[in-house]
Amino acid sequence: MFEATKAKIMKTNNAALLQWIDEVKTLVKPDQVKWCDGSKAEYDEMCNLLVQKGTFIKLNEQKRPNSFACFSDPSDVARVEDRTFICSRKKENAGPTNNWMDPVIMKAELNKVMDGAMKGRTMYVIPFSMGPVGSPMSQIGVEITDSEYVVVNMHIMTRVGTLVLEILGDDGNFVKCLHTVGAPLQAGKQDVKWPCNPTLKYIVHYPEEKSIVSYGSGYGGNALLGKKCFALRIASNMAQEEGWLAEHMLIMGVESPEKEKTYLAAAFPSACGKTNFAMLIPPKEFSDWKITTVGDDIAWIKPGKDGQLYAINPEAGYFGVAPGTNEKTNPNAIKTIAKNTIFTNVGVTPDGDVWWEGLSKEVPKDIIDWSGKKWDPASGKPVAHANSRFTVAASQNPSLDPDWENPNGVPIAAFIFGGRRSTTVPLVYQSINWAYGVYAASTMGSETTAAAFGEQGKVRRDPFAMLPFCGYHIADYFNHWLQFGRDLPSPPRIFNVNWFRKDEQGNFAWPGFGDNIRILKWIIQRVKGRASAVESPIGWMPHYEDIDWNGLDSFTKKDFDKLMTIDREAWKQELLSHAELFERMYDKLPKEYIFMRELMLSSLWRSAAQWKLEPETV
Ligand code: GTP
Ligand code: SPV
Ligand code: MN
Repeated sequence: MFEATKAKIMKTNNAALLQWIDEVKTLVKPDQVKWCDGSKAEYDEMCNLLVQKGTFIKLNEQKRPNSFACFSDPSDVARVEDRTFICSRKKENAGPTNNWMDPVIMKAELNKVMDGAMKGRTMYVIPFSMGPVGSPMSQIGVEITDSEYVVVNMHIMTRVGTLVLEILGDDGNFVKCLHTVGAPLQAGKQDVKWPCNPTLKYIVHYPEEKSIVSYGSGYGGNALLGKKCFALRIASNMAQEEGWLAEHMLIMGVESPEKEKTYLAAAFPSACGKTNFAMLIPPKEFSDWKITTVGDDIAWIKPGKDGQLYAINPEAGYFGVAPGTNEKTNPNAIKTIAKNTIFTNVGVTPDGDVWWEGLSKEVPKDIIDWSGKKWDPASGKPVAHANSRFTVAASQNPSLDPDWENPNGVPIAAFIFGGRRSTTVPLVYQSINWAYGVYAASTMGSETTAAAFGEQGKVRRDPFAMLPFCGYHIADYFNHWLQFGRDLPSPPRIFNVNWFRKDEQGNFAWPGFGDNIRILKWIIQRVKGRASAVESPIGWMPHYEDIDWNGLDSFTKKDFDKLMTIDREAWKQELLSHAELFERMYDKLPKEYIFMRELMLSSLWRSAAQWKLEPETV
């Protein structure tokens, strides 16, 4: 069997790979096996097949060249956190924030559901690289899938191709990524447009083996296994073992009018503005500032010999949130998705273009909503699903950084963390040192979004925006960050932002989007030691005068003060929720955290009930 497979494909002599493929094939029993070469011809062929199957709708060639739309099954619209498992040998290594199951038991269970799972389908083998092919910071994976949708999305999101197999060689290591939609097709039966298993899903990680098995979903991070499963959950394990960082972070370049270039990495939870920030176009008063994109979702960061940190974006494309994207909020994204784009769960107009809430004020007439039917304005339902997304190659981004594929990465000068908080957390503050910055990131809270299946709008602790993505004990992860900083001669500065604070009327109190450059400018000047700051109970903050307000006269000093106010009672509640988080992981909690929390409490205790940047004097 093994020799037969080898002879047929002759693409690789990697014994571990060939053996795994044979094992999987025997288990899942596909009709045929096809190796993917990453070519354009293959992409086009798969897209045509998806059109034939009714999964893809070819969009208007004039309005949206070489682009497609598709609608998923209503049960399959986002990551499924409650069906995501970290199957480490010991439960304590998965920690309190991950679902754990004994790998032996999980394998036995999965062997049953995987048996014959690909019957009636083609099993595709996709060799891919996370990171530029051949870069010392890159890693190789092979995804087996029975979904053509996954094949074309992987083409965009990763580097797929035979070159990867060459680099893998006869005995190179790779991450095994096994995916099935979990919907075997009986002979003679017509396939559904979005095959998946509506009732049973598993997203399983074996951190010691560095392998992944995903069953039952065809959507996003559940199915494109290079992304969250590999580049975050498995890679975070590798990073802890080997002394680097795998993070849910965008990477951006900022060029000042003096042509000084600074790179930053920023972690915001899912659907909280990473893509927006990474592609930011400043207002015209800041036209001599230039933002460039290295990545919009994931960063792999390693210390260089010079003591600086270097980051690569392991991905090759963007799987971006569609709703809210428009000419004003993200003009670069609008340009990026003008062609060669796959849209999932957005609306389709009668003339074959796409639409989503926030793209324009008016809903186009006779639009098809994400359920695939004509939208009923009286239904109160949105046209596009809140987690509808576009898949597009990074190379189409007009703001792409010239070094985005630099095999050695770009130097990171600062980290920014930001949650979605309508109250409590100020617009911006700087942590006084690495340890406090790590503490602040560890205790970050955010209101939940549609990017994960389930409840929305509830504040939950989302440490480092990694809650759903850290593949091991989260307190070990905190310790890893603390130690990582201790080992650096001069660790990057750490900042916290909140673009989402609301006013009494429930409107966003900060204009956000392009205007975030004002905060970014202060951050960069702080990093360079050129801007002043005020000491607040939670860290360093800019004075009103430290921010460049050119072109934003409508935003007053009073408005700014409001956004920067620290409400003592609200922060005491915040600290109580830190304690709740800590209690869940007390076995491994860094001991510093107990003292840091106490120190924060004592500085709040001493401060005014409403701490303000400029207290009113009598
Ligand atoms: P994932 O891809 O899920 O990891 O998320 P992401 O962080 O890349 O999310 P994205 O940038 O697509 O976030 C989109 C959401 O954030 C939309 O609802 C935007 O309107 C909102 N958003 C982004 N930037 C801002 C901002 O500066 N202010 C406000 N109020 N909303 C923002
Ligand atoms: C996220 O949810 O953070 C995403 C989308 O980036 S997905 O790849 O589906 O996880
Ligand atoms: Mn993400």
